[in-house]
Amino acid sequence: MSREPRPSEITPESLYRRRREFLKHSIGIGLLAASGPAAALVLPKGPYPRRDVADGEKLTSWKHATTYNNFYEFGTGKEDPAENAHRLKTDSWSVTIEGECEKPGTFAFEDLVRPHALEERIYRLRCVEGWSMVIPWLGFPLGDLLRRFRPTSRAKYVVFETLYDPEQMPGQKWPILKWPYVEGLRMDEAMHPLTLLAVGMYGKVLPNQNGAPLRLVVPWKYGFKSIKSIVKIRFQERQPVTTWMRAAPREYGFYSNVNPEVDHPRWSQKKERRIGEFFKRDTLMFNGYAEEVAHLYRGMDLRKYF
Ligand code: MTE
Repeated sequence: MSREPRPSEITPESLYRRRREFLKHSIGIGLLAASGPAAALVLPKGPYPRRDVADGEKLTSWKHATTYNNFYEFGTGKEDPAENAHRLKTDSWSVTIEGECEKPGTFAFEDLVRPHALEERIYRLRCVEGWSMVIPWLGFPLGDLLRRFRPTSRAKYVVFETLYDPEQMPGQKWPILKWPYVEGLRMDEAMHPLTLLAVGMYGKVLPNQNGAPLRLVVPWKYGFKSIKSIVKIRFQERQPVTTWMRAAPREYGFYSNVNPEVDHPRWSQKKERRIGEFFKRDTLMFNGYAEEVAHLYRGMDLRKYF
């Protein structure tokens, strides 16, 4: 298919060959972490079950999706993450699950992900800045993972944290945001079947600039809710203060649902531009996922809970 990037576009030939070697040995086993400094994670071989949740829209090119990014840990420019994210070491990654659950602990990334069958989900991603993309993610529903840790009845919210390591993430040396990056969801949002934990995109391992090795994707919310390079997941009773709420509480609320009727205080949210296209298009309520998610917010004043 034309959307498929050539491996040579993504990795140097030698590394690509090494990955292929691992792939041969890992079929049926699941995700493996290769050793060595430039080692990459290897996905179980596809094809993966596919679900187009973007109405057959044209996919954003791999090139755009991997070179036009927001990942402030690697700089505030759109091209900074692609340039700097190679510093992030994703081998021997672990994730801590804590708070209001019966089975907390710290788990190797591979152990965390292995029980889950990967699927491809094509989602629109709408950034609060007014641009959007259509991305084929590779992942599994967040809820399937959360259930394994038996959240208690006090778990009303789920909080996520990105790695904090200014040596690997040089943007963290500057107080642009309060580090580490924190995001959160209400429990029912987290358990919604559209909420995805992604480990890959376009059939490949996630590039570092897109949030390797593990990121959230919440397609009906502005892109900043989709936190990258997650190392901590916490169940808690109180609504958390997330990074963008803390940075600008008048501009960014907890919910951050895509809503063309509620403008950002400094600009309209009525329209958006797909990266790679020239003309703007109308922004859809809940980013086009209203049928699936509107019930989560029934009775809520979405101007107040923005
Ligand atoms: N996660 C972390 N840790 N740091 C960030 O700066 N930026 C967010 C989100 N996740 C960000 C993050 C924003 S503003 C957007 S729009 C999306 O990531 C962009 O994802 P993409 O670069 O894969 O398109």
